[in-house]
Amino acid sequence: MVEFTLPAKARVKPGRTWPKPEGAKRLKEFRVYRHDPDGGGNPRLDVYFVDLDACGPMVLSALIWIRDHVDSTLTFRRSCREGICGSCSMNINGANGLACTTALADIDGPLTIHPLPHLPIIKDLVPDLSHFYAQHRLIEPWLKTDTPEPQREWKQSKEDRGKLDGLYECILCACCAAACPSYWWNQERYLGPAVLLQAWRWIADSRDEATGERLDRLDDPFRLYRCHTIMNCAQACPKGLNPARAISKIKASMVKRRV
Ligand code: SF4
Ligand code: SF4
Ligand code: FES
Repeated sequence: MVEFTLPAKARVKPGRTWPKPEGAKRLKEFRVYRHDPDGGGNPRLDVYFVDLDACGPMVLSALIWIRDHVDSTLTFRRSCREGICGSCSMNINGANGLACTTALADIDGPLTIHPLPHLPIIKDLVPDLSHFYAQHRLIEPWLKTDTPEPQREWKQSKEDRGKLDGLYECILCACCAAACPSYWWNQERYLGPAVLLQAWRWIADSRDEATGERLDRLDDPFRLYRCHTIMNCAQACPKGLNPARAISKIKASMVKRRV
């Protein structure tokens, strides 16, 4: 039987347990992944206790509280705190999501927080998304036209505009890509759910005139056809989008242009 084991250096070890805040009446336990690849040593899980009466209502509020009051070296990304920028994506109690829109009140018991899985780590909860962004660049995510630009704006009927609903809302948080088993194993060549949803967003845009070129770029056994409709992506998306559906529409467009 094949046995899979992590290299010794990658195993997560128990870390430091930080002191409980004095005088706090409502405490919540956080087990947080800590790792500095440049510093050597194994990743570890540090334990923090958050005073719920002193911090805001979201998981991100608690991480900010820890950083400000307990451990200033804890590293994570965040910007908007409104579920718009996609920066604070991480794995919270086993599910990928946005720390700024995940309410502490919805989670019973201790929280375990890891970075998005199956991505290289820069530090602690910060994954390296360079490759993910390079893949996004590859699909040329902008309007491409041959028709000379109109004086004022590219017009679109209400119906055509409606075809972009469920696509334009993507905030490129990568929660779906980091939940997709096909992306875990083939991310060097498979574009993954987020980038393919973005690709369909431009193909579906009635104003875009580069559909053939866009489909040519995706017509590859790895870039597109590694999706096996496992649907983890739709389940993971914090914006309620369905990348698997977008991928199936790209595949259908491929078939349509061949017949
Ligand atoms: S449906 Fe496709 S893209 Fe979504 S998780 Fe499954 S394999 Fe990945
Ligand atoms: S489809 Fe959803 S999960 Fe995937 S990158 Fe966009 S917003 Fe994030
Ligand atoms: S901080 Fe912007 S999405 Fe969470």
